[in-house]
Amino acid sequence: MSEVALLQLIGLSVVGLGIVILLFIKAMFVRVLGFVAMVLGSFSLVALSVPQMASLPPAIESFDIASVKTPDDLASIGQKIFFSKGQCALCHSIGPSESARCPDLAGVGAKLAPEFIYESLTDPQSYIYLDFRHEGLPEEYPARMPYINKNPIALSKPEIFSVIAFLQKMSGEPISIKVEDVMDMGQEEKSVKMASLKDGAL
Ligand code: HEC
Repeated sequence: MSEVALLQLIGLSVVGLGIVILLFIKAMFVRVLGFVAMVLGSFSLVALSVPQMASLPPAIESFDIASVKTPDDLASIGQKIFFSKGQCALCHSIGPSESARCPDLAGVGAKLAPEFIYESLTDPQSYIYLDFRHEGLPEEYPARMPYINKNPIALSKPEIFSVIAFLQKMSGEPISIKVEDVMDMGQEEKSVKMASLKDGAL
């Protein structure tokens, strides 16, 4: 028997108990208890009839550097990160959107140099981008661009550069991020981790 069915059975017996008490017992206090049991039992039956869905954290995605051969591979990993782990799509749209709370990133890979995008992601407060879309004085956006290389998003350097490759690709730009450079960054981060492991720093 499934867990839900078991709980439903318990709820049903509680309601049944309440009905039996109300039918056969005269003592006032016990009758009140019986009534309460009936009400609570029916509430839980209603609650249990709502379809249950377990909410799980999103699957952890790791950057599989070995599978990357071309800049396009890099961009497609970047695209995955943009819509999942990087959480960029929570705030940014690509193309105009009514619900967007933050700058539209369409064409951003053509408008901004990769170095500038990298800075926008890792030091977001150095240039503040204002919202000119509405009437009146340009304002700051209602949300803040998070530090992408720090918690809670904490993308690694290769991950950040693949997102930049994606931004370039979706802007119709040639991808200027080099696969070898990203590989090197991956190696670097690994060796830094190894070194700090040896030092007992981690
Ligand atoms: C919590 C909301 C939020 C999230 C999540 C977020 N951003 Fe932003 N982003 C902003 C805001 C607000 C600005 C504009 C303010 C500023 O420039 O500091 C901005 C600015 C930018 C800019 C500069 C735009 C320009 O034209 O100068 C880039 C590029 C950018 N974000 C990319 C990203 C990427 C890539 C991700 C995911 C890895 C991301 N953002 C995640 C809110 C967010």
